Amino acid sequence: MDIQSIKNRFGIIGNAPALNYAISVAAQVAGTDLSVLIVGESGVGKEVFSQVIHTLSARKHNPFIAVNCGAIPEGTIDSELFGHEKGSFTGAVDSRKGYFETVSSGTIFLDEIGEMPLGTQARLLRVLETGEFIRVGSSKVQKTDVRVIAATNKDLLEFTQEGKFREDLYYRMSTVPIKVPALRERPEDIPLLFRKFATDFAERYRTTPVFLDEDARRSLVGYPWPGNVRELKNIAEQISVLSQNKQLTAIDVRQFLPETLSARLPVLAVPNSSNGHGEFANEREILYKLFFDMKKDVTELKKLFVDVVQNPQALNAASLAALKPETSFTDIPSGDFVHQPVITSPVSHPVLLDHNDIHEHVEVEESLNIMDKEKELIVKALKKHKGKRKDAALDLGISERTLYRKLKEYDIDE
Ligand SMILES: Nc1ncnc2c1ncn2[C@@H]1O[C@H](COP(=O)(O)OP(=O)(O)OP(=O)(O)O)[C@@H](O)[C@H]1O
Ligand SMILES: [Mg+2]
Repeated sequence: MDIQSIKNRFGIIGNAPALNYAISVAAQVAGTDLSVLIVGESGVGKEVFSQVIHTLSARKHNPFIAVNCGAIPEGTIDSELFGHEKGSFTGAVDSRKGYFETVSSGTIFLDEIGEMPLGTQARLLRVLETGEFIRVGSSKVQKTDVRVIAATNKDLLEFTQEGKFREDLYYRMSTVPIKVPALRERPEDIPLLFRKFATDFAERYRTTPVFLDEDARRSLVGYPWPGNVRELKNIAEQISVLSQNKQLTAIDVRQFLPETLSARLPVLAVPNSSNGHGEFANEREILYKLFFDMKKDVTELKKLFVDVVQNPQALNAASLAALKPETSFTDIPSGDFVHQPVITSPVSHPVLLDHNDIHEHVEVEESLNIMDKEKELIVKALKKHKGKRKDAALDLGISERTLYRKLKEYDIDE
């Protein structure tokens, strides 16, 4: 089967050479009985590759089972995979067959194999090398004929160095590695995927699909997509449901991208633009950056304030630290980018602040809501063009109608 037919059959979107290569390796290896290791960051689309390999193999009519090694408790994974004998552990009231017994002649997909406990890894290695396994609590060696496909978003080689993954198993598994590329490594696929998801969601919600204008496309392509296709799919859904415009501008799109990362987006400038749009796009970008920098500064000041309130003796040292910051503040990306609750005070003993406390104190006052910023930008653009809506809209990269709607929405008095 050629690559395009595989993509059509399994709903894989994208044309990037690295993606095509991964599909061609999967197709080539499918017909063999070799173990396959699918690697790639979280959300890149590894799962479908296990189905491609099984479906294109001679085992396609035999069972396929996907086991998420990260979701099974350490105490039961051996029994799940290899079975157990009655009385082999507390609660083992009956003997039970494991997947390597029930799926014999089929394929087992071991997802998140990096999470597999070391003891289970030893049992798996034995199966891969000799086709033999033993039920937990038994001494009887049994034979199985199972094809193993595994996937991981972890660096297994690093895991072997840290002693978390058996080196022999790593080499055994990675005879044929398939690397599914990260989304930012195949930017040309981003608009294609967005279009596909927008069309799917429009169908689901019985509406017309949203589509991207040139700047919006650039914003989407420039975003680093740490959550890969999964994140793009989620954002496409949010936009499809929530956006009031069907033709999306960069401003529309950015409202949906996490701000810390979208602040690093490349400038929206259109080079040599004759209508001045490019110039203002640049200005707008600078403004965005300024806002985000200001937000960071304000947050740090607030933290310092909380620190001093909780530990007044630190006042002098803290004010010094504000001038010559020794205080370590770390932003951790956890959900909506909250700040790490542990602040190392500039005084000798560290101060441990309660997470909720910081939130209470820090998340007050100034609104850094993107809509407020949009409002400010609109006011600024109108001022710049002396109230001429047409020119202001052009500079903002939105249609006059959208501007008119936003003026009403934000209650802007011209
Ligand atoms: N090329 C693609 N075309 C269409 N949809 C895709 C593509 N790649 C991924 N997806 C979709 O993105 C989502 C995430 O993919 P998947 O669950 O396979 O990620 P993963 O690589 O297994 O991530 P994790 O390591 O977190 O398990 C799924 O809904 C999948 O259908
Ligand atoms: Mg997965």
